[in-house]
Amino acid sequence: SARVLAQTWKAVSESAAEFSTRAGKERKVAVLGAAGGIGQPLSLLMKMNPQVSQLSLYDVAGTRGVGADVSHINSRAQAKGFEGPDQLADALKGCDLVIIPAGVPRKPGMTRDDLFKINAGIVKGLVEACGKHCPGAILNIISNPVNSTVPIAAEALRKMGVYDKRKLMGVTTLDVVRAKTFYAEKLGLDVSQVDVPVVGGHAGITILPLFSQATPTMPSSTPADVIDALTKRTQDGGTEVVEAKAGKGSATLSMAYAAALFADACLRGMNGATATECTYVESEVTDLPFFATKVKLGTEGVETIHPIGSMSDYEKEAFAAMKPELAASIEKGFKFVREN
Ligand code: NAD
Ligand code: LMR
Repeated sequence: SARVLAQTWKAVSESAAEFSTRAGKERKVAVLGAAGGIGQPLSLLMKMNPQVSQLSLYDVAGTRGVGADVSHINSRAQAKGFEGPDQLADALKGCDLVIIPAGVPRKPGMTRDDLFKINAGIVKGLVEACGKHCPGAILNIISNPVNSTVPIAAEALRKMGVYDKRKLMGVTTLDVVRAKTFYAEKLGLDVSQVDVPVVGGHAGITILPLFSQATPTMPSSTPADVIDALTKRTQDGGTEVVEAKAGKGSATLSMAYAAALFADACLRGMNGATATECTYVESEVTDLPFFATKVKLGTEGVETIHPIGSMSDYEKEAFAAMKPELAASIEKGFKFVREN
């Protein structure tokens, strides 16, 4: 009816006005792999972020359509599709933040490390293009295996002389999202009030949720087998989705949500607000060169890396157990750049 139409129009014009008043600084963001399972919903979520003024949607194919589609949404960002390597430079020029979900996903029975063969080269190539066309941009690496692709990105940028450790982050937000969901579900809590730090890396036992540091505090009477089950479910969350999708890929929607949360925190930090998130970065918190802990994000990217904090005996054991695997994945990334 006319009344409903008028109400709808009022809501649309009000949200447009809200977007323009919250506009703030010009921020150009690129999504590389924008036509993919993560890339498409992530492109939508970034188009809806009022901090974004320009949005480049790049992929080797399929971004003309995604770009045209997303660009019709009446929000601040000017969205445009870029297709194929010839258009990559234009997609990246002037970018403040580049989000990279390009690469192949797992099928049942595969580990994230099985993706290394294909994704290592894809990430190296894209990160080198960032080093050339938008040095100084913050990079959010999603492509797996994150434990190795982030060291690959660091070494590739270092070789080019443009590496800034404050500006390279592996996205581990999905682990935090899962830990919060499972913890709230198990303890019957309001999930919006829940926080669970997740440290380490982003594969199997290298994912370490610290339920001993959760908010609200875990009751001291919580049985050890409940904590163990919550830990394992967080570590195997990716596999749970891979198996449920039965050959049609891995987490895309929850990942796009997590990546959009993390990118929003990076943009808030860049714009002078404070933001703290867990993320996998070059770090001196442990004797491993890369490690995920809570990090304060500021105008230049990573401002302060927080220590792991106190761990339960169970968590201390899990921390010791993950170290050889994480060290090997980091070294594998370094070696790939040395040899390619
Ligand atoms: P997908 O196959 O649906 O999409 C990947 C996209 O990357 C495709 O559109 C493909 O064309 C594109 N691509 C490939 N090579 C490219 C290149 N050189 N330049 C630009 N684009 C290129 O896969 P997906 O489900 O979106 O997953 C993407 C990656 O994200 C996988 O490696 C997956 O394991 C990883 N992932 C990470 C997390 C995390 O928590 N960090 C979570 C989920 C998935
Ligand atoms: C995830 O955690 O969902 C991703 O890393 C994808 C995967 O392969 O599990």
